[in-house]
Amino acid sequence: MKLAVIFGGRSTEHDVSIVSGTSVISKLDKEKYEITPIYIDENGEYYKYTKNINEIKTLKIGEKIDNLEKIENIIKILQKQDIIFPVLHGKYGEDGSIQGLFEMIKVPYIGCKVLASSIAMDKVYTKMIIEKAGINQTKSEYIRKYKEKYIHIDKEFNEKICSIEEIINIAETNLKYPMFIKPSNSGSSVGVTKVENKNELQKGIETASKYDNKILIEQGINGQEVECAVLGNEDVIASEVGEIKSADVFYNFDAKYKNQESKTIIPAEISKEKREEIRKLAIKAFKAINGKGLSRVDFFVENETGKIYLNEINTMPGFTDISMYPKLFEASRNKLYEIIR
Ligand SMILES: Nc1ncnc2c1ncn2[C@@H]1O[C@H](COP(=O)(O)OP(=O)(O)O)[C@@H](O)[C@H]1O
Ligand SMILES: [Mg+2]
Repeated sequence: MKLAVIFGGRSTEHDVSIVSGTSVISKLDKEKYEITPIYIDENGEYYKYTKNINEIKTLKIGEKIDNLEKIENIIKILQKQDIIFPVLHGKYGEDGSIQGLFEMIKVPYIGCKVLASSIAMDKVYTKMIIEKAGINQTKSEYIRKYKEKYIHIDKEFNEKICSIEEIINIAETNLKYPMFIKPSNSGSSVGVTKVENKNELQKGIETASKYDNKILIEQGINGQEVECAVLGNEDVIASEVGEIKSADVFYNFDAKYKNQESKTIIPAEISKEKREEIRKLAIKAFKAINGKGLSRVDFFVENETGKIYLNEINTMPGFTDISMYPKLFEASRNKLYEIIR
């Protein structure tokens, strides 16, 4: 089977994708697949990664890639494949853009299709579908950057142009500190900040607006951070639930990829009943966005109340050596899967 593995890409998660992509290639069965590794640089140029396939090892975060040969006609190469695995995170790779290209040239690919990819990449729109599915999630306010001001968008899509002071006022009226400010299109925590007061709130909004003009102001949850991996198309299976123990005040970029103190625990330190509930919710959420193939669905479990909140759905989760998705299924390997509908 001819398999192209694509990694790198034009998003802020380019470096993470290099780690994920090389990790996937190093672990694939070379007897079973004729692998074509394809690297996309930050400008969107395509290259063949020409290193001997048996010698490809997982690169470290920030490590640059060499042994590259420019591809003149990417379509021609992709059309020769039996299947494509886009191990790409973030914009253009995980948001439906490249999936649209695969659809156009009629080559099968791994993972979510155009619609699910673009919904899950956008935190604001994910919230709308998750609400429709009746799954609990954090309270939030949605704003857009507009010239020197902001537009506040209410739950019925009514828009109001506001100054930053008015936005702060709305947030403080409806939410409590700490809050989390996020670009709607974020990943790997890039542009995400935890804020404890007015001043930090304003700065957080400014930071987030550098990455996306859609911004989410979210109620912070004091609790455990847990994740569940799902796999399948119609009959979807859910893995055991894992937990993140962040080395920092929250699971920011450095805590994710650089700080060795951050840990993942499988199973999560919550009751079996709660883990079962989370597995069901993960599948429900995945189906609600019309997910296909795989996703990692992330939740919080609140300390005081034990309430479960869905945080986000990652349609192409990390595949680095420390990543949760592969670890979760590794831990679930010898257990009988149940198909939960
Ligand atoms: N509402 C929240 N309450 C508590 N922690 C949060 C909240 N939102 C985000 N976080 C923290 O910030 C991290 C990054 O936020 P997340 O929404 O997962 O964005 P990304 O898509 O960049 O991973 C999370 O892993 C978590 O540690
Ligand atoms: Mg996340």
